[in-house]
Amino acid sequence: MAALRTTLCARFLQSLPMRSGSLRFASSSFKAADLTIEKRQTPNPKPDPSSLGFGKYFSDHMLTVKWTEKGDWEAPEIKPFQNLSLHPASSALHYSIELFEGMKAFRGVDNQIRLFRPMLNMERMYRSADRCCLPLFNKSELLECIKKLITLDQEWVPYSTDASLYIRPTFIGTEPTLGVSRANHALLFVIVGPVGPYFATGAFNPVSLLADPRFVRAARGGVGAYKMGSNYGPTIAIQSEAVKQGCQQVLWLYGDKEEITEVGTMNLFIYWTNEKGERELVTPPLDGIILPGVTRQSLLDLARKWGEFQVTERTLVMKELLDALKGGRVLEVFGAGTACVVCPVGSLLYKGQHFEIPTMKNGPELATRFYKELTDMQYGRTSSDWAPVIVA
Ligand SMILES: Cc1ncc(COP(=O)(O)O)c(C=O)c1O
Repeated sequence: MAALRTTLCARFLQSLPMRSGSLRFASSSFKAADLTIEKRQTPNPKPDPSSLGFGKYFSDHMLTVKWTEKGDWEAPEIKPFQNLSLHPASSALHYSIELFEGMKAFRGVDNQIRLFRPMLNMERMYRSADRCCLPLFNKSELLECIKKLITLDQEWVPYSTDASLYIRPTFIGTEPTLGVSRANHALLFVIVGPVGPYFATGAFNPVSLLADPRFVRAARGGVGAYKMGSNYGPTIAIQSEAVKQGCQQVLWLYGDKEEITEVGTMNLFIYWTNEKGERELVTPPLDGIILPGVTRQSLLDLARKWGEFQVTERTLVMKELLDALKGGRVLEVFGAGTACVVCPVGSLLYKGQHFEIPTMKNGPELATRFYKELTDMQYGRTSSDWAPVIVA
């Protein structure tokens, strides 16, 4: 009963964050119908698809929408990609009043351009805005504006089923005063650019993880469940520490019991034979310290639809994983996120000891199945409501 109460309380906290913060802005929003478009005179040359990497190239245009407490939302604008001009006291620069999203547009085998469950990103962005005390907006109107931007820059969506157009909606406080208070000026903008495949060789490359309980990514009562820039900057030093110790990414632990939370910037999944001898896919619950990933939700939804094994969202601790590894019960461990869909984990460094994780020995059957299901929808090899066509 106490456990149930705790779970309900955690859900409640996550779904209704600080509503008093920005509720008064809820009725107003910018509208896609008011969008103005200023086109670039000469389009930039597109980069060679084999040299894309991540986040290096940007398309010809960007979307901006300004807001002020006094003037409300201005009309959204699409204009040539350009630098921002910000007051040096802008609250995003001093107090990290900043949030962002990460989503992709895919050019399918039929040449149509699709998004993947884009309303989940809009909803997450809305929750982050609320938690940052930034003004709220109509999620469908923002999505409509993003579709217009992608339609205009459609030639930037790579002609490849290995690459995609990364979409980075961003929202910053531009309050030009130094008080630590709600921003009365804000700027929402969206930039997009082509990105290459996460697995350059076309095959899964399993990653090695550093699990060091001295470091945390997020804390209960904090903002780990929101996609705010302030959650990411402080992780870079720990990521560098992982690399120094010969690992590729960080397995984020939390608390005295060493709860397993996320891997790098991905949600974590373990596929194993549990202590009752059942096949089970487990991932940590959305209890405030986990980012509610779109990919995480999609894997859970698919696995529950298949109904072939137990699917569980629950708190997991390091000891359970180590016991299962020692007992030979772990089948696969993988991260899940927009960047890679799924990313197999091959080993773990914990308190100076190396642990092999047999993900690749097992195919990895489940990770590969998830990868294929999602990429088939994204690239139009199978049709799905999850991957709506936006440019036919
Ligand atoms: C901390 C963190 N966890 C998980 C994810 C995966 O989320 P999604 O599947 O929406 O990309 C991300 C990426 O956005 C992330 O930054």
